[in-house]
Amino acid sequence: MKPESIRKYRPFPTVDLPDRRWPDQKITSAPLWCSVDLRDGNQALAIPMGVEEKVEMFKLLVAIGFKEIEVGFPSASDTEFAFLRHLVDHGLIPDDVTIQVLVQTREHLIKRTFESLAGVPRAIVHIYNSTSPLQRRITFRDASKKEIKEIAVEGARVVRELVPSLPDTHVRLQYSPESFSDTEADFALDICEAVMEVWKPTAEDPVILNLPATVEWTTPNVHADQIEWFCRNMKDREKAIISLHTHNDRGTGIAATELGLMAGADRVEGTLFGNGERTGNLDLVTVALNLNSHGIPTGLDFSNLEAVRLVYERVTRLRVPERQPYVGELVFTAFSGSHQDAIKKGMDLRAGLSPDSDAPWQVPYLTIDPEDIGRSYEAIIRINSQSGKGGVAYVLDRDHGLDLPKAMQPEVGKEINRIADAKGDELSSEEIAEVFADRFVNVSNPLRLLSYELDHDAGGPGHVLCRARVEFEGEERDITGEGNGPINAFTAALEAFGVKDYTVADYRSHAIGAGSASDSAAYVCIQKDGSERVYWGCGRDPSIEMAGIRALVCAYNLGRL
Ligand code: KIV
Ligand code: ZN
Repeated sequence: MKPESIRKYRPFPTVDLPDRRWPDQKITSAPLWCSVDLRDGNQALAIPMGVEEKVEMFKLLVAIGFKEIEVGFPSASDTEFAFLRHLVDHGLIPDDVTIQVLVQTREHLIKRTFESLAGVPRAIVHIYNSTSPLQRRITFRDASKKEIKEIAVEGARVVRELVPSLPDTHVRLQYSPESFSDTEADFALDICEAVMEVWKPTAEDPVILNLPATVEWTTPNVHADQIEWFCRNMKDREKAIISLHTHNDRGTGIAATELGLMAGADRVEGTLFGNGERTGNLDLVTVALNLNSHGIPTGLDFSNLEAVRLVYERVTRLRVPERQPYVGELVFTAFSGSHQDAIKKGMDLRAGLSPDSDAPWQVPYLTIDPEDIGRSYEAIIRINSQSGKGGVAYVLDRDHGLDLPKAMQPEVGKEINRIADAKGDELSSEEIAEVFADRFVNVSNPLRLLSYELDHDAGGPGHVLCRARVEFEGEERDITGEGNGPINAFTAALEAFGVKDYTVADYRSHAIGAGSASDSAAYVCIQKDGSERVYWGCGRDPSIEMAGIRALVCAYNLGRL
């Protein structure tokens, strides 16, 4: 912003609560959840959902486990009214789900809302009016506090009188002092208590007081102070469920909600992935999974988050951003090499645990196990020029069954990074395997193995004899050598042939995949005489013995390049 623009703005007032307690609280259980996708979320869509799309969203919310669902503003439009009737007429409201309907505190709208609820087994009638000084002064043209309070009380009276018109419905009541976040704390409390006076809730049948951050004007700690102040100063705290309804204007709606829960709230309203007016409502998915990630059950099932995202995107016509917590396409992808190395180490440790182990999740950079929300490890590592050796090794291991020795990984990682750099793009898993095969596997020039056999009986005691035919720099030769194993015997044969400027420094092998048809991979490290330099080669062959010999030939050839 330009300095002259900044002059327009002022700091937001804080709450006088020096003995605030919320900073020392811990969230130990989940709040009550209410989805407002079909109301606050829907009203914020460029193309609002039609009845069919709403039904699909409703079924999704039920399947996730929401027990309170605000289905709309039935008095505001025929579509909203028709949708609620559709739910009733088609018996789509499960026994344990309560339908919530929103309505302004105006008599004819409240009446119409009650009509829409005929036949609904359980309903929350939610009335609201705006209470902040800004709204009083500008929207309601200098309405006094008294007038604003009277609007709420009058609405509450109309509701109270209409409750008996639904004898077969268990009606619960909710009031929101809209714009609570910039309303004077004592006035918000005064108006809520006036509504409670009319509704006469009990501890067994409490009212829901929803305290919305209709606009997020300030930092989450101030929101928490507002909630704690309200809860501590209420006359009959036990007769009210305190509900949060944050929006995300400053990008901290989730933090505000979490601190609000620490401050004493019982319930939260929000939407899937934070759809809603302007920067959105509270993202319920993130809050719930944040709780899960601390070991707290929520009653909401996001174990197939991808399926939830697909329905959400189809019916809202919105796209979930790539970096959105938990669900974004890239949130389980590490591009940085050091992150990839650390993730691989963490994953390897977990792979060694028994499947029913209760060991806590401890993988660097990943707050949860992606599999717990139906995401796969496949997306975790992508290889570009910034990737580390561990990332490359991870992909070769996971996708291609090649378990590279640790000491070989830097050389392979460097080569893959060089290729990615030249390409200027990520390498796919297949491309990585191709580069590895091309540069490090069965390299057979200038030394080429044409045939090989091992005689276990012909060598001295504890020795084997190898007979091989090789081509070296265009010349074919039969060679023989003896040693205490195939590699040693072949090395001795090569020495007799004049190839003897190295020593074998390391060797290992493993089967690739399962079954008798599987190949074997072997890795040989040779050190050039008179040098610190080592060369790794990989051999691949159906026979594990041959894989070792091929690895040695390969390492030798790489040392000659
Ligand atoms: O954001 C808000 O204040 C609302 C109310 C109607 C609860 O959506
Ligand atoms: Zn809202």
